[in-house]
Amino acid sequence: MNWKAVCLLDDIDPNTGVCALVNGHQVALFRLAQGDQLFAIGNYDPVGGANVLSRGLIAQLGEVTSVASPLYKHHFCLSTGVCQEDSNLRVPTYPVRLRDNRVEVVA
Ligand code: FES
Repeated sequence: MNWKAVCLLDDIDPNTGVCALVNGHQVALFRLAQGDQLFAIGNYDPVGGANVLSRGLIAQLGEVTSVASPLYKHHFCLSTGVCQEDSNLRVPTYPVRLRDNRVEVVA
């Protein structure tokens, strides 16, 4: 795996997302407040047709943590990338980890 450091953990406010360009892929990175958990998914919203998911609001519905797209409010699961309103739709997910306070992604 080719891990690439993209930012420091402190560069991402808890419960928000940022976008990083990793090997030509726009990756939406999210940091949960609880446990500093990290997720990385594609930034492109296939419904709205734009690179906006990093700007979405994190939603917690039961066990499922998702991001609501700013465009049409479709929810994409941060673990699987699957759309909760239409399971035929999904966005890519990428491995992400924390190393010495640096956020690293494979994309
Ligand atoms: S929304 Fe995550 S598995 Fe269905």
